[in-house]
Amino acid sequence: MSQSEREIKIAPSILACDFMNMERELRSIETADLIHVDVMDGRFVPNLTIGPPIVRQIKAIATRPLDVHLMIEAPERSLEQYVEAGADIVGVHAETCPHLHGTLGVIRRLGARSCAVLNPSTPAEAIEHVLDEVDQILVMTVNPGFGGQSFIEAMLPKIERIRGWIDGRGLAIDLEVDGGIKEENVGRAAAAGANVCVAGTSVVEPPSLDRKPRIDALRQAARAALA
Ligand code: DX5
Ligand code: ZN
Repeated sequence: MSQSEREIKIAPSILACDFMNMERELRSIETADLIHVDVMDGRFVPNLTIGPPIVRQIKAIATRPLDVHLMIEAPERSLEQYVEAGADIVGVHAETCPHLHGTLGVIRRLGARSCAVLNPSTPAEAIEHVLDEVDQILVMTVNPGFGGQSFIEAMLPKIERIRGWIDGRGLAIDLEVDGGIKEENVGRAAAAGANVCVAGTSVVEPPSLDRKPRIDALRQAARAALA
């Protein structure tokens, strides 16, 4: 597949949304391709967010697939709960999975798409030998835990390297970026090889129920970089 044919997907993160009005918030981002759901346990990352019961409630009202990003220790203990709650894609951090290949296989067998996530300091090689079990790779472009941080430009060569493996081996793996993504930098991430772009603050803030233009602008900026 040539670079210009690569499908760009925009995945707003609901982390910055108003959780007391989630149905309204979800309606405002339903022109996106995926809904990115950040699960944090207060241990792997300092912040604490939501668990399976809330994922289930989000699933009941969402019209787009849920891309669930598990920033939790020992994720293998709760994979089944997240898939049952409605996660379509389940992302686990390489740093939390001593048996990453096996854990990705379990996610697939449970019926979800598997995603391996890399912290900024984790080299691309951490996933080089699990490509046969992975449907998506997420390169964190900030240190996980909080929204609103700045995109780390030093992640671009890592994205290029992983895109080289995917295309070179003819694999159907999505390559996702998460953290500090906005209209000014999404083109650089897409040109490096990312095709799934998570955006929290740049889509959600300032609060508005008209978020379609922000989603469209991100998609156009990413596509323009591939033309
Ligand atoms: C960070 C989360 C992100 C976050 C992105 O730990 O994984 O998904 O919501 O937010 P922004 O786009 O504001 O960096
Ligand atoms: Zn995330």
